[in-house]
Amino acid sequence: MTKKLAAIAVFGATLGVAGLTGIETGSYAPSLTSPAHAAACETKKAKDDLTDADATALYDCIKDKLAEGYKGSGLEEATAFRSWFVPNTNTFVSPTHGKRFVQHYINDIGKEAYLKYDDVDKNVMPVGTIAAKESFAVSKKDGKVRPGPLFLMEKVAAGTLPDTGDWKYTLISPKGKIIGQTGTESEKKIKFCHGCHQNALEDYDAMFFPDVDYRVEG
Ligand code: HEC
Repeated sequence: MTKKLAAIAVFGATLGVAGLTGIETGSYAPSLTSPAHAAACETKKAKDDLTDADATALYDCIKDKLAEGYKGSGLEEATAFRSWFVPNTNTFVSPTHGKRFVQHYINDIGKEAYLKYDDVDKNVMPVGTIAAKESFAVSKKDGKVRPGPLFLMEKVAAGTLPDTGDWKYTLISPKGKIIGQTGTESEKKIKFCHGCHQNALEDYDAMFFPDVDYRVEG
């Protein structure tokens, strides 16, 4: 665990967060936040003062817009994920994904292995596992909630994607644009995904799991 956290810190400082900050500022895609969507959802509190209940209220406000946006990608899992198991007890801030609030999901195929969290042994996530993570940001400037990207990881058949431990990463913008996907032309845009997740590859089959304070018991 210590090794993993240290690795996150290192990659966060280099590849990882740099990559995501790029997204936030729009250097990868013209618009990853859509103010029109956020009009009705806002808070007067500073982000650091938001309680779990506040975060949930903001999520409840934005969640239909998130679903509608991701659906535009045309990917089945970008719609299906909402019916999957939520392994976090409350939406929480992810320091490694652009400091956005995130909500995790795991499909039925991966659920049992995933809920073992740090007890997971090498490469035990079954083929067909899909982990999804939706996100939203609270603007420091005006307290408005803005839709964030959908992050997906799918375990594919052994040997299919040797460079990423057979994980297919997909990044979908809030408007449903597929920004990058492993194994396609656009994979160079999301190399930083595995750049960070590979630090957990050996011990946890690339899974990082929700923040320890927000894990649903397995
Ligand atoms: C700097 C490190 C870092 C980078 C870069 C990163 N992640 Fe993550 N990822 C994490 C951590 C830590 C978690 C678990 C806690 C959280 O959500 O913050 C996580 C969780 C996830 C999960 C839920 C499954 C799991 O591991 O528990 C998915 C899906 C995911 N990330 C996809 C992506 C995609 C797609 C990208 C690239 C667009 C990406 N990540 C980039 C560190 C990173």
